[in-house]
Amino acid sequence: MTTTATRPAGPRPRAAIAARTLRTDRWWVAPLLTVTLLVIWVAYATVRAFMQKWYFVEPYHYLTPFYSPCWSKACSPDAALFGWRFLPAWRIVPYAAITLPFLLLFRLTCYYYRRAYYRSYWGSPPACAVPDLHKSYQGESRMPGILQNSHRYFFYAAVLLSIVNTIDAILAFHSPGGFGIGLGTIILVINVILLWAYTVSCHSCRHIIGGRLRHFSKHPVRYRAWGFVSKLNTRHMELAWTTLGTLVVTDFYVMAVAAGWISDLRIVG
Ligand code: FES
Repeated sequence: MTTTATRPAGPRPRAAIAARTLRTDRWWVAPLLTVTLLVIWVAYATVRAFMQKWYFVEPYHYLTPFYSPCWSKACSPDAALFGWRFLPAWRIVPYAAITLPFLLLFRLTCYYYRRAYYRSYWGSPPACAVPDLHKSYQGESRMPGILQNSHRYFFYAAVLLSIVNTIDAILAFHSPGGFGIGLGTIILVINVILLWAYTVSCHSCRHIIGGRLRHFSKHPVRYRAWGFVSKLNTRHMELAWTTLGTLVVTDFYVMAVAAGWISDLRIVG
């Protein structure tokens, strides 16, 4: 004879345990580290975006990603992609004001970053087996959480931005005599490769490539692409952090050379 257990409707009450959590490890280290690193990164990026100097090394055509595409009227003519310069040259308008909001929203709505800041900033929950700091959970099925579903559209914007960053990296193979390679070129190229890896490993990208298919066997190319993206997707968290690091390293190197603090290490040209 089989019996069917029925559960009362509504949220399941928490087990009657007095302790806030039974975890004895230092579970708070990860959220604390996330908060600290994200605050430092955002502070650095904000200062740099509004600094409006030391963003371009003219002889080698190194342009920092924080100023790309450089479309302000105040941009150096050589730094402006396609020669376009139309944004007002005001202190409060970053030179890359067209693209920075998309970049920010792409990261802000990223599945991994959501997990990171829901846990670290919102305590929802702070860690596995640690209770939520909030009494109720609304998820992402209503306002404002439902706006997180716009992530797939920011993915398309991020692809365009990665193309722009790729053009910057190609243009960095430059010297006053023509072709050239320096340490800055290598840093820009590594940065753009990792930015592509992060963008392509996006969960939305994985769904765009392999979603809504009934038979993978009838779509071998998409199946192969989906397999590749799925492998990268398992590294999405690492890529999210690594690219934050490479963006800062790339920007700092360009700033240091542009400011004359160091000379670019030239390999060719
Ligand atoms: S899920 Fe992280 S970038 Fe799309």
